[in-house]
Amino acid sequence: MTLKKIGVLTTGGDAPGMNATIRSVVRTGIYHGMQVIGVRRGWAGLIDGDLVPMDLKSVSGILNRGGTILHTVRCPEFKTKKAQEKAVKIIERNKIEGLVVIGGDGSFHGAREMNMKWGIPSIGVPVTIDNDIAGTDYSIGFDTAVNTALDAIDKIRDTAFSHERIFVIEVMGRRRGFLALEVGLAGGAEMALIPEVKVSIKTIVKKLKMWHKSGKTSCIIVAAEGACDSHKVAKQIQEKTGLDTRISVLGHIQRGGSPTAFSRLLASRLGAAAVDVLRKGGRTKMVGMVSNKVVTQDIDDAWKYEKKIDLDTYNLIDILAAS
Ligand code: ADP
Ligand code: F6P
Repeated sequence: MTLKKIGVLTTGGDAPGMNATIRSVVRTGIYHGMQVIGVRRGWAGLIDGDLVPMDLKSVSGILNRGGTILHTVRCPEFKTKKAQEKAVKIIERNKIEGLVVIGGDGSFHGAREMNMKWGIPSIGVPVTIDNDIAGTDYSIGFDTAVNTALDAIDKIRDTAFSHERIFVIEVMGRRRGFLALEVGLAGGAEMALIPEVKVSIKTIVKKLKMWHKSGKTSCIIVAAEGACDSHKVAKQIQEKTGLDTRISVLGHIQRGGSPTAFSRLLASRLGAAAVDVLRKGGRTKMVGMVSNKVVTQDIDDAWKYEKKIDLDTYNLIDILAAS
């Protein structure tokens, strides 16, 4: 049975590359003779019937734009049966036969419910700057966030060098350290504090004192937001080392910006793959990229296995910090 009409929505935390994904879903769907209906404002918009028919032109000029033209909101209400029933009524009334859900693992839970409880085929496309979704080596948006944070770290390094200061730079990543690790190594940080590896303030202070003694006049510590209270760590460093210490919380700058080539390529490939999986009768699946190959996994693979941190990267930061 060939699907004639599918819906596409962006939900959860936005990330650069969401628009590139929407563009790929819309144009691939139309290429295969489907109607593609945009759902505005994620699951909340589905509940409200906030739909917009998408044509080829509706996704022109968005490949290089951050954010999502369909908007997204966080909608905990969608965990309730009542809200899901409203969404299903909208789907049935508009004869939508399947959904492409663009978002993180929270969004994927919603997609799984749509299919398992309500029989609406739903395919997840992994988009999050946290890169914490198992089933894919990289999530769309992660590479762009790494480069945005890296640009900020390079700039902070200039003033840390000038003033001979220690900087604690807090990056996002929710409960994981993927962003901190990648940025830490690329940015030449002396240390990356991540939730997956516990480090005492005593150890941090000992290393900083050792580096100071060896003539290092400034240091960059990248701290994942889920690893520690970075303000408290900066204060303790200043108190225990006597070295001038500052903190910089990068925040939502990591969520915006024009997607990098890598993010755009991943978005274009996975958006098209999601439509193909739907077209071929796929139901609760997610698409991903593993060892540079597009793969299709069960959607609960996204959270059934905890994605592992690369401890070689963690250790390499330490090795390369010596100077
Ligand atoms: P992300 O997808 O980036 O992880 P969230 O965790 O906010 O972001 O999840 C996105 C949306 O998915 C939520 O706002 C909610 O509407 C929906 N959602 C999250 N968890 C569930 C769940 N267990 N069941 C149904 N819907 C869910
Ligand atoms: O999941 C993406 C993310 O940016 C996390 O890294 C961060 O902790 C969270 O979203 C912030 O949530 P909000 O966008 O609701 O402020």
